[in-house]
Amino acid sequence: MTPEQQNDTRTVEQLIADQPPGRSLDQRFYVDPEIYELELERIINRNWILAGHQSEIPQPGDYKVFKVGRESAIIVRAQDGTINAFANVCRHRGSLVCLEAQGNTRKFTCPYHGWVYDTDGKLVGARDMPEDFDWGAHGLHRLSCELIHGLILICLSQDAPSVENCRKELAEPMALFDFENLKVAACKEYPIPANWKLSIENYQECYHCATAHPDYARMHTLMLDRKKRERVQDHMLEKLEACGLRDIYIDRIDTAARPGEIGYGYSRTALFDGYKTGSRDGSPVAPLLGELKDYDGGASDFSFGAFSFLLAYSDHVVAYVFTPVDMDNSRCDIYWLVRGDAVEGKDYNVDELTWLWDVTTEADKTIIVNNSKGVHSRFYRPGPFSGMERAEKTYVEWLMQELQRPV
Ligand code: FES
Ligand SMILES: [Fe+2]
Repeated sequence: MTPEQQNDTRTVEQLIADQPPGRSLDQRFYVDPEIYELELERIINRNWILAGHQSEIPQPGDYKVFKVGRESAIIVRAQDGTINAFANVCRHRGSLVCLEAQGNTRKFTCPYHGWVYDTDGKLVGARDMPEDFDWGAHGLHRLSCELIHGLILICLSQDAPSVENCRKELAEPMALFDFENLKVAACKEYPIPANWKLSIENYQECYHCATAHPDYARMHTLMLDRKKRERVQDHMLEKLEACGLRDIYIDRIDTAARPGEIGYGYSRTALFDGYKTGSRDGSPVAPLLGELKDYDGGASDFSFGAFSFLLAYSDHVVAYVFTPVDMDNSRCDIYWLVRGDAVEGKDYNVDELTWLWDVTTEADKTIIVNNSKGVHSRFYRPGPFSGMERAEKTYVEWLMQELQRPV
């Protein structure tokens, strides 16, 4: 911390009260370890995070490990086919139990002293324990885990926000793309050496798109103002139904969410004329999803809670999940999903499928890291949001609200 930061003795409550509306966050929110701890407790650990798609673990015993902050979760399909999540922490003396990123197993054996857990998290083996040892009380800690039309969401809190309205209201738009039967065609982790909030704030606005993402800006119209977008948007809306889509708009994102439930949203936005999907030249990169009949020239934004966003083109879906690694490091996980029966090499090519969002995310990474460097400077002051940063403004307000919400 700089000497100025050390001399800033304001409490978190004062900082929140002093946060100027419509401006970026005070520096302390990015550099103060106490605030980071509070964020883990009040934001990260009690909200839902997208941890993958059910197609990644199709068979009983299939598992994947998902990390967030200093936590590690095992997501596993049990013998009865259900998907559950457990804290990857041994109930003996706390070692990580599962060190592999993914695999298939009937049992998880702790590498330290060999305690054994089944795929339901139940302790089934522990050598030389006293006769009165309570086996039933030493299963892996169960985490909140929900399937929303094929997407796996986890929450580190037992008292997770409700997902029922989200599941119900998003059923119709998710069915259009047949989310349940998608498969993960590619997945990549992007480590970002910057505070997690900078990574998500960047995703919230497209003010930077014209300067940072020439490829994205060629095809997406999000950075146009509403008036300029109207013509292409109307053109898309005219074609929408004939293509098998419906005009749906849902805005229950975080600050609009009802208390005690996850925020969520859905909208469809036109691509520029000539672009059927988000690909190098706008031509299809995979078979049409679900029952879609043709390309309407649009792309749909879905959001699930505070960390997880999806973009559904007509022939593939891209999911972005931003999570903290520690105070100064975050991670963006990207999943590219195609229809479940699509065959690699015949129906799609991974390089073509992933090209746009790989170059875009690499560019985002660079601008986020530059942002982080400047935010750490003694000259940084919260700056005013533009009209194109409304979602970021809302996001920052939501963060402040969550930080004050009692546990
Ligand atoms: S810490 Fe896992 S068996 Fe000892
Ligand atoms: Fe970007």
